[in-house]
Amino acid sequence: EARAITPPDIAARKGGTPIVSLTAYTTPVAKLVDPHCEVVLVGDSVGMVMHGLPSTLGVTLDMMIMHGQAVRRGVERALLVIDMPFGTYEEGPEQAFRNAARVMAETGCGAVKLEGGEAMAETIRFLTARGVPVMAHVGLTPQAVNAFGGYKVQGRGADAERVYRDAVAVAEAGAFSVVLEKMTDPLARRITEEIAIPTIGIGASASCDGQVLVIDDMLGMFTDFRPKFVKRYAELGQVAGEAIEAFAREVRERRFPAAEHVFGDVPKAVDPAPR
Ligand code: KIV
Ligand code: NA
Repeated sequence: EARAITPPDIAARKGGTPIVSLTAYTTPVAKLVDPHCEVVLVGDSVGMVMHGLPSTLGVTLDMMIMHGQAVRRGVERALLVIDMPFGTYEEGPEQAFRNAARVMAETGCGAVKLEGGEAMAETIRFLTARGVPVMAHVGLTPQAVNAFGGYKVQGRGADAERVYRDAVAVAEAGAFSVVLEKMTDPLARRITEEIAIPTIGIGASASCDGQVLVIDDMLGMFTDFRPKFVKRYAELGQVAGEAIEAFAREVRERRFPAAEHVFGDVPKAVDPAPR
């Protein structure tokens, strides 16, 4: 059995064949995505996608660990990366290490991801020097939605310099890759060309070193809203709705369960589903 992909393997993909990444929050979905992805991410998007939270701010370390353990059981080949949730790393390097070490020890993940650029550089340096590989995340960082005043496109006009400096800072601090979220295409291209670590885009640019999407978004399972950068590769929510409707109809019409779904003989005359 081939060995699992490591953070250095991902770092070595700079400028090569694009890195493929999707989120997963459960064992069965992890088993579906693992054969096709280099990175499986347990994103804090789990709060919105699986728990109905209005933003990622209410996600806890225990939620990330529980979903991380579930995904770990379904991943053999890909690098498993787990998001550090809001409030568990921003106080400083020691807090970040304490919580990241818990995530790694209790889930068996290969790396953690945290949001922030220049402000997180010292923390990223501290973690990477102590055995915690870090995937960074700059541009639109959803945990800062209140500070941003919404989920706006980042890097327009003079704001591009801020995002650029953030990307340079996390690369220099030792992150093995960086997610670029919801920024203009030219900015993502410039960052990708100028920093030494792979960029993984979401709402960024086809020129990034890889792409990531939220699995429920791309499968059409999470349909509360639909950002421009989401491509729906399937409409599973619609398929599921139709299946549930069919079940409800057949129960009400006594057409389910049929003879093949029950035990023992069903008298022909009273077969509830003659065919
Ligand atoms: O939480 C998440 O799913 C993420 C990805 C969108 C990068 O951070
Ligand atoms: Na996230």
